[in-house]
Order: sequence, then structure tokens, then C-alpha cells
Amino acid sequence: MSRRKLVSTLLALLLAIAWIGNRRGSSSDDTGASSTPQAVVANTSLTAPLQILQAQRQYEGVHSCSATACHGSGRADTTGSIQRNEYVTWFEKDPHAKAFEVLRNEVSQRMMRNLGIDIPATEYADCLKCHSPLSQAPRRGRRFYGQHGVSCEDCHGAAGDWIAPHYRDGWEDLDATQTGMLETKSLDSRARMCARCHVGAVDGEVNHDLIAAGHPVMKFEFSAYHDALPKHWNPGPAEKRPDFHARLWEAGQRAAAAGALKMLELRVSKADSQVDGAVWPELAEYDCFSCHRDLPRLAQNNTSAATTIRWGSWYSGLLERGSTQQDSALSRLRTVMEGSVVAEPKAVLREVRLALAQLEASEISFDYVRRATQSDSLDWDSAVQLYLAIRAHDQDNRKTRPADAPATETQIRIDRVRSLLQFPETFVSPRGFRRPGTEQPAPRAAVSTALRDLVNELESAGGAPDPSPEQESAPCP
Ligand code: HEC
Ligand code: HEC
Ligand code: HEC
Ligand code: HEC
Repeated sequence: MSRRKLVSTLLALLLAIAWIGNRRGSSSDDTGASSTPQAVVANTSLTAPLQILQAQRQYEGVHSCSATACHGSGRADTTGSIQRNEYVTWFEKDPHAKAFEVLRNEVSQRMMRNLGIDIPATEYADCLKCHSPLSQAPRRGRRFYGQHGVSCEDCHGAAGDWIAPHYRDGWEDLDATQTGMLETKSLDSRARMCARCHVGAVDGEVNHDLIAAGHPVMKFEFSAYHDALPKHWNPGPAEKRPDFHARLWEAGQRAAAAGALKMLELRVSKADSQVDGAVWPELAEYDCFSCHRDLPRLAQNNTSAATTIRWGSWYSGLLERGSTQQDSALSRLRTVMEGSVVAEPKAVLREVRLALAQLEASEISFDYVRRATQSDSLDWDSAVQLYLAIRAHDQDNRKTRPADAPATETQIRIDRVRSLLQFPETFVSPRGFRRPGTEQPAPRAAVSTALRDLVNELESAGGAPDPSPEQESAPCP
């Protein structure tokens, strides 16, 4: 099962955090009073606000797609791009089909208790926003019934205005996005589409309240998540490129970082304009380990150096270290976020907007990985991101080898880096990158050296891509 696979690759690193199993109470004033989602999500600008729902459009529901003659065929057609059994793949294999069901599980029940909210998660708007967004749709078609989890229209757009034309003659001549269909061919828009839920959006977020209540920490990396998703489509032009995984990685870095910055912008602008219920500082923005590791230590040893609460680096650490800009906007933002216990909202707002603009203007490539591995001060999040980047680039090399070929030396070394980064089951923090099963810290230097060697190896193997020349943006569908 592919979600299990992902858990064992990427998230096992995190889910081993022992405290996740713990429970505690949290504020309960969070009644889902969020801004109403409005416009279309398919905007090509990185800085455009992201919404999960297209509130003006009509949703038709998954049963409008599932007919045998449409997308519910018993067998995949592998001749064209459309398999025709998309519904079956989604229903049987895709974790998104279970996204509503998980709101009934024990973790969800415990979360609701911890949040002090007296209704089941399956009825709580703050969960449904991401776990069954269509149930929040104000406009629904006649055939809409039941709960869908995350279904066709969440990724492909509200079908009200395209369901009829999309199987008729002349569809190819229309601009599909004008009908509300989301662009998923280009990897950039695909990545942004996933980031709405996996990073957060104006109409849904996973904050420290939710995490403290038991929600998994969201550490989205597009290439790993894309790999783990059971595919209900035949490889298109994007997939067929020899540097597909490198491109996935690039698109993911931009989309995830932009999503995280926009989340921060939203949080801090609510605080700045003193919106009711605004939470600032929002602890989910910060490096979990600066509190959860150092709090006990601080109690014993009150040194000021240890009191720095670091801004989280999952979405920014690699880009910050890999940037050629002397004065990287992300680094300036970090300075503001870490400058005082409660970062000044106006200053954060200014820097976050500059960082978004700089991100939009910059071209992310493997060069970022090379430069970032030169850093001697890698934190765990940035090191894991580098590991995932290297892994993605090696995937492209693997494609040229037979499926049953033995693991290459590079693969073995990549796996070794993974084990340096993995948490041992009994240990709650990646401090010092401890090796599983031992109390010996694997020195950060060992991780940095191993990552640097791998970068050199990939480059000499010709695996690192050229700085992506052509743009791929075929129209949809
Ligand atoms: C509308 C919200 C939404 C969108 C859009 C979305 N996801 Fe998800 N995704 C979820 C939710 C909620 C879950 C958890 C579901 C569960 O556990 O059953 C999830 C789970 C997953 C998982 C399984 C994770 C694990 O821990 O095993 C993968 C992989 C994944 N998504 C990939 C993607 C990719 C790739 C995209 C974009 C092509 C995407 N998702 C778009 C909401 C979304
Ligand atoms: C911003 C969107 C978002 C919101 C809001 C949200 N979730 Fe999630 N949730 C996700 C995503 C995405 C995942 C998958 C995370 C991953 O595996 O990386 C997930 C995973 C989970 C899981 C783990 C599922 C599994 O298969 O183990 C549970 C349980 C869960 N959410 C419950 C809830 C509950 C309860 C709420 C409301 C109190 C909630 N979520 C609110 C997006 C969201
Ligand atoms: C988690 C997001 C997600 C969900 C849920 C999802 N899809 Fe997709 N779908 C994609 C992505 C990404 C692609 C590949 C990009 C592309 O070909 O447009 C795709 C491709 C397709 C294609 C091929 C399009 C083409 O022109 O090649 C069809 C048809 C399709 N999906 C139908 C469905 C149906 C029907 C459902 C519901 C049963 C569904 N999808 C659910 C993300 C999703
Ligand atoms: C600025 C300090 C700070 C940061 C940063 C921080 N937390 Fe917390 N966390 C706390 C405090 C204080 C509590 C107890 C009060 C509460 O529940 O809000 C807590 C509670 C928790 C709990 C409930 C555990 C229990 O035993 O009560 C979890 C789980 C948790 N945090 C996870 C995280 C994760 C994951 C991150 C990073 C995304 C994070 N925290 C970032 C201070 C922090």
C-alpha cells in the first residue's frame, strides 16, 4: 500500500517523535470561523492566494465521474492519456479516498477530545476543509450525495461548468481553466494544487493547536508525495522527460515554500489587523525542537544562547542556504522571526512579501542543492530536504537501469544518509542526528560530508540535470 510506503520512507522520520502520541488540552475557541473561500485556485502566480474550494462554482460529486463508460471502467486503458478506470484506482488505492474515513479513527477522536470540542471530527468544519472539502461546498449539483474524502473535483476543479463540455466535441479548443478545471499538466500548477492541503491555504491550516492535539506534523515534499500517489493516469509529456524527478523537485520546492510563506503572511496579517481569534506567534511556524528539546534543559541551565526559538526550516532552510543572493530575503525574514520572542507583525509582513517576490523571481535548480551541502551548520530539517533532493535526482538515473538491477553504490549511500537522519524509536529528537539504536550522535559533519559526496557523485554520473531550459505548460486537458 503506497501510503504505508511513504510513511516508511519520509514520515517515519517524524512519526517516531514520541510526544505525538501524547495528548493534551488546547484552546477551543476555534470554531471554524474562517474567511469564505472565493476565487479560482488555478492562478499561475506564486503569490496568488491559495484556496481549497472554488466557492462560486458548482460541485457535482464523485458519482458524476464514476460511471463505467466515463471513469469507472473495470480496466485501465493504457493506449491514450485517459485510463477510464480513474475512479476505481482512486477508490481502491488512493489514500485521498479515505480522507473522510480517517476522521473517525482513534487519533481523530483523541484530537477532538484534546481540542475540547464536543462534536465528532466528521462534523467539524475545520477538519472537513481538507479531509472532505466538497462537504463544505455551498453549491452542489443534483447528483451530489455522500461524503467523498478528497476526490476528483478537489484536484481537477469544480465540474459544474465543465462536466458536460469536457466529453463533447470542441472541448480541445476551449480554455479549460476558464471553466474552473484546474491545470494539472504543468508540474508547477500540480505542485501548487497539492500544497493547498499539504501545506495550508486561506481556508484551512494545521496550526500548533491541531498538532498539540495530535495531528501529524505536515512536512510536505512534492517529489516524495507524488511518487507515493497511486497513478490513475498514463505518463504524459512531463512524466516522460528524462529529468522528470528533478523537475518535480524544483516545482515542489517553489510551490511548498510559496505556500508556507503565504500561510505565514496570512497568520501575521491577521495578527497585525487584530482579527478576532488571531494567534501570534503561531508556534507551528517555529522549529519544534527549539522548544521541545530545550525546555527541560532551559529549566536547569538558563543560558541565553539556548533561548533562541528558531524559525522552522523545512520549507526555507535549503533555499536559504542554496541562494546566491548575498542578502537573501528568506534570511532577512529569519532574522525578524527570531529577533524577539514575539516577532513584530509589521516587520514580518514586510519581509515575508519580499521573500515571496524573490522566490517568484528566482530559478531553482540542482545548484541550490550543491551550495546548500557546503553549509557546515545543517539543521535536521534542511538535511532531510537535501536527502530528498538527492534521492529525487537519483530517481532519474534509475529510470535508465533495468528494474531488477541491483542497487548501485550511490543508492546504498543514499540509504545510509537516510539512516543517519532517522530517529531511533526510543528517541524523541534529531539533535545531533543520533544514529538509530545507538546513543552515539552521528556528528552533523558526517551528514554534511556524506551529502556533499553524493552531490559530487550525481554530478559526475551526469545525473544532475541541466538548469531546466524549456517550460512545459501544455493546456488542459
Ligand atoms: C483537498 C486536499 C488535498 C489535496 C488537494 C491533496 N491532498 Fe494529499 N492528502 C490529503 C489528506 C487529507 C490526506 C490524508 C488522507 C488519509 O490519511 O487517508 C492526504 C494524504 C496524501 C498522501 C498519503 C500520505 C501518507 O502519509 O501516507 C499522499 C502521498 C498525498 N496525499 C499526496 C498528494 C499529492 C501528490 C497531491 C497533489 C497531486 C495531493 N496529495 C493533493 C489532502 C489533500
Ligand atoms: C490544512 C489541511 C488540514 C486540516 C485543516 C486538517 N487536516 Fe488532517 N491531514 C491533512 C493532511 C494533508 C494529512 C496527511 C498528512 C501526511 O501524511 O503528510 C492529514 C492527516 C491526518 C490524520 C492522519 C491520517 C492517517 O492516515 O493516519 C488524521 C487522523 C487527521 N489528519 C485528522 C484531522 C482532524 C481530526 C482535523 C480537524 C481537527 C484535521 N485533520 C484537519 C490535512 C489537514
Ligand atoms: C490528489 C489529486 C487527484 C485526485 C483526488 C484525482 N486526480 Fe485525476 N489527476 C491528478 C493528477 C496530478 C493527474 C495528472 C496530470 C494530468 O494528466 O492532468 C491526474 C490525471 C487525471 C486524468 C488524465 C487527464 C489527462 O488529460 O491525461 C483523468 C481522466 C483524471 N485524473 C480523472 C480523475 C477522476 C475521475 C478522479 C476521481 C475519481 C480523479 N482524477 C481524482 C490528480 C488527482
Ligand atoms: C515556542 C515553543 C514551542 C514551539 C516552537 C513548539 N511547541 Fe509544541 N508545545 C509548546 C508548549 C508550551 C506546549 C504545551 C501547551 C500547548 O499544548 O499548547 C506544547 C505542546 C505540544 C504538544 C502536545 C504534547 C503534550 O505532551 O502536551 C505537541 C504534540 C507539540 N507541542 C508538538 C509540536 C510540534 C510538532 C512543533 C513544531 C511544528 C511544536 N510543538 C512547536 C511549545 C512549543
